[in-house]
Amino acid sequence: MAKLLELQLQHFRNLKSYKLTFGPRLNLIAGDNAAGKTSLIEAVWALSSGRSFRTAKPQQLIQHDTSELTLFAKVEQQHQVHAIGLSRSEEKVFIKVDGEAIQTQAELASKLPVQLLTPESHRLLEEGPKARRQYLDWGCFHQSQPFINAWRHYQRALKQRNHGLKSRLPKEQIELWNAQLIETAHAIDQIREKYVEDLSPYLTEFCQALMPELTVLPECHFRTGWPKSSGTFTQVLESNFHKDLQQGHTQYGCHRADIKFRFDGQDALMKLSRGQQKLFVCALLLAQASLYEKTANEAVIMLIDDLPAELDAHHRETLLKLLQALDIQHILTSTDKALIPLLDADNAKVWQLENGQFSELLQDGCQ
Ligand SMILES: Nc1ncnc2c1ncn2[C@@H]1O[C@H](COP(=O)(O)OP(=O)(O)OP(=O)(O)O)[C@@H](O)[C@H]1O
Ligand SMILES: [Mg+2]
Repeated sequence: MAKLLELQLQHFRNLKSYKLTFGPRLNLIAGDNAAGKTSLIEAVWALSSGRSFRTAKPQQLIQHDTSELTLFAKVEQQHQVHAIGLSRSEEKVFIKVDGEAIQTQAELASKLPVQLLTPESHRLLEEGPKARRQYLDWGCFHQSQPFINAWRHYQRALKQRNHGLKSRLPKEQIELWNAQLIETAHAIDQIREKYVEDLSPYLTEFCQALMPELTVLPECHFRTGWPKSSGTFTQVLESNFHKDLQQGHTQYGCHRADIKFRFDGQDALMKLSRGQQKLFVCALLLAQASLYEKTANEAVIMLIDDLPAELDAHHRETLLKLLQALDIQHILTSTDKALIPLLDADNAKVWQLENGQFSELLQDGCQ
């Protein structure tokens, strides 16, 4: 399994300078509000993606009154240790893997594959389909090699078709892009549908483990992004051409796909309590991590920011037990120090974080 062995931070948000040596299973960072917990999770995410999940302005990550941040990680994968380094100043960013500058973001993600659960992950249920498509496509991208190519070609054809519609080019010219759009849509659709099918048993398993009180099982329904009742995608594009022209963009297609999560025919948001919704989102991400482990034969590292607050003591304990039983490395944060005695001391490491300074509270027995 992929493991983050060590993380060195310098001048990353409010985190000054520290080296953390992680345990192979559960790593808990406990601290009050504004201690720097999300910043730590953000630092690991930055090493995995080159980006932040909180800001589109990466300069904000550099500690106030300093000019450069640096992150360095040692990651073990398939019995090999890799070094990932990132440094950023106002003007420049350098990201290196094993001393070599990286060419693509995918290369970075493959060295440090992470799955992120934050309080914002709740948008998977609450918001529109965009977040669910991103969730779905993360899985498809990792599960199926042809997916990324099909997706890129689809996006290109869509952009060109939309440009043609907006510029009111002749119909024949706009329709030149239809063939590529239809072909790639078909490939994307099949991969997404299969992914949802493969994911479902994992989701059921995690829902049952986290919410044994539920008497009904989750159902995942994949929606293609065009009304199936209107015929094939080719027919949908044809019959909506004038509307598309009026609106200046392609209304239907893979870019409108969605997944619906239901219990007993009812939307998860209607059926589940707020705490259960949090657990369901957790189950969604754990299911994805488990399926990834099976297909890639490599485990992702779970980053969990703010271990779902709003859970009662019983559900928190159930979740912690489940996390500790999984053969996955977890880095999780919480404001709740009462979690510490619940941890299995042989499999956990704990730090207290105060004002950007770490102190180690519990060494795992595996060191
Ligand atoms: N570039 C920066 N330089 C220094 N401090 C920063 C920078 N960016 C943010 N901070 C500060 O870092 C502190 C820690 O923020 P962070 O969001 O990591 O806290 P947290 O422990 O996750 O808190 P909470 O429990 O409320 O989520 C905040 O006080 C924030 O103002
Ligand atoms: Mg936080």
